[in-house]
Amino acid sequence: MCGIVGYIGKKDAYPIVLNGLKRLEYRGYDSAGIALYDGKEIQLCKTQGKVSELEAKAEKNIPLRGNLGIGHTRWATHGVPNDVNSHPHYSNSGDLVIIHNGIIENYSSIKKELQNRGYTFTSDTDTEVLVNLIEEVKKQEDVKLGKAVQIALNQVVGAYAIAVFDRNKPDEIVVAKLGSPLAIGIGDDEFFVASDATPFIEFTNNAIYLEDEEMAIVRLGREVRVRKIKNDKLVENPYVQELQLNLEQIEKGGYEHFMLKEIYEQPKVIHDTYRGRLLADQGIIRLGGLEDYIKKFVNADRIIIVACGTSWHAGLVAEYIFEDMARIPVEVEYASEFRYRNPIITENDVVIAISQSGETADTLAAIKLAKEKGAFVYGVCNVVGSTISRETHSGTYTHAGPEIGVASTKAFTTQITVLTMMALRIAKSKGTISQSDYIKHLRELDMIPDSVEEALQGDEKIVEIAKVFKSAANFLYLGRGYNFPVALEGALKLKEISYIHAEGYPAAEMKHGPIALIDEQMPVVVIATNSNHYDKVVSNIEEIKARKGKIIAVVTEGDTTVRDLADYIIEVPLTPEALSPLINTIPLQLLSYHIAVMLEKNVDQPRNLAKSVTVE
Ligand code: F6R
Repeated sequence: MCGIVGYIGKKDAYPIVLNGLKRLEYRGYDSAGIALYDGKEIQLCKTQGKVSELEAKAEKNIPLRGNLGIGHTRWATHGVPNDVNSHPHYSNSGDLVIIHNGIIENYSSIKKELQNRGYTFTSDTDTEVLVNLIEEVKKQEDVKLGKAVQIALNQVVGAYAIAVFDRNKPDEIVVAKLGSPLAIGIGDDEFFVASDATPFIEFTNNAIYLEDEEMAIVRLGREVRVRKIKNDKLVENPYVQELQLNLEQIEKGGYEHFMLKEIYEQPKVIHDTYRGRLLADQGIIRLGGLEDYIKKFVNADRIIIVACGTSWHAGLVAEYIFEDMARIPVEVEYASEFRYRNPIITENDVVIAISQSGETADTLAAIKLAKEKGAFVYGVCNVVGSTISRETHSGTYTHAGPEIGVASTKAFTTQITVLTMMALRIAKSKGTISQSDYIKHLRELDMIPDSVEEALQGDEKIVEIAKVFKSAANFLYLGRGYNFPVALEGALKLKEISYIHAEGYPAAEMKHGPIALIDEQMPVVVIATNSNHYDKVVSNIEEIKARKGKIIAVVTEGDTTVRDLADYIIEVPLTPEALSPLINTIPLQLLSYHIAVMLEKNVDQPRNLAKSVTVE
């Protein structure tokens, strides 16, 4: 939620900051802005709308120049998305300029206090309050910018990643972090700051990721100094991480949208996720983060999974896998609910937190709560170095690569891949799986990339189905067992990118209410692949057909029973039920993608959404 980027060095900052904003736009696209400083004049340009609109405005009106620049792409929290509320924001004197990702919760009392002291505000944002608080501290305490930022941040409650500069200090940007991510790229006599490393990967492979409650003074000609905000302690030798990203990973690579590229990447990234960790021929699963803690899982009374959105759906799939294979009871919780309950957690519980971004505020808060209550917390994250990956006791990275389309696709299937490997590894140690079943599952998992590849070949047929149903007002998605969460995920994908109302249900629940919705206008997507419940699902299809609903069924290749009943079928390769979510998700992703494209929606940046939800 909100992307921030900054540059200081010898180069022209404008193209670097603008390009950085384009790469961070997945974090929010309500408005965008940029401020440049050449040591004499600060130039600021901002606008409601996307970075392309900012670019058009900037290039028409002002020649933006300077070797210091900061930029922001906004997901609105305080104040409607308009030009005035866009970042960057000036302080009253015009000396300080700030960009901010996060929320200052006590901004209104600080604002009143500042107003009493004569400060005026042009925007409705909490950020403008923060920059003026910094200015007031600087004046009152007669301190430099870095110190003023530190004192001010000790007075605020909330979350932030900020970058701020002072007109009187053209060689310096001050940054700070609590709750929202902040990376500092270290170049050759130049520095970059950003919400993630993508804005600077062509310039440097070295980055410092600030921890919560840390700040840094980024000054030309000097090493980056990182301090603890609370007690001013200098962080000795902050860890400089070597980045593994490359440009190709964050470009569309010939696809029309990132989402389509990411759907098609799934055979490769699922393979990347188990490569070197699953050795099917030798009967080995080796997950670095798990080996040291295997006893915790083996002896666990219960596993609690916390996550949000699509990651929560992956957690639901994991519930089936862990209970089936490792015989450990599992509870899957919305992180946002878990954090505000008074959950009962014992030392024998293990918590698994799942998050693509590793920054989701609710998941992070759930982790902190679980840790406070003494639980061992294991993370399944995609973004290396993200806050959640650092806050958890141990964990496993999915290797999905950067997921830029706001609607999650490859993150889901790689999360399931990791969770399946975990369940198998734990089951093996616990003795809840026979050696032959264990080996069989390993071999089957090793074949999944080929089956996903095959499922992707159904794309043309799915385009035809999308044409028929693109104007439907509602959709139902039904699945049973392992494929109930797949139904939820299919419905979520459709709503978020096409804005068509869709609901996912366990197929048998239909008769307890949703069946009332079924008429000849209602498309019902049913996952009816080979499983223990196949016959039951066939009965559910009969019930829909009897009420004239339109049936789109995902079936196993060669299925004849459902073919005769359904209006449309999508065939997928035969896969064991426990792994079938990895395959059955593919046609549902493609269906929502094609419908959204046909409806001319912005597939990669759906309205009101942002990729990384760093507010509650
Ligand atoms: C759906 C989607 C969201 C995220 C959710 C959690 O397509 O992208 O529902 O899954 O916001 O995000 P992470 O996994 O980053 O914690």
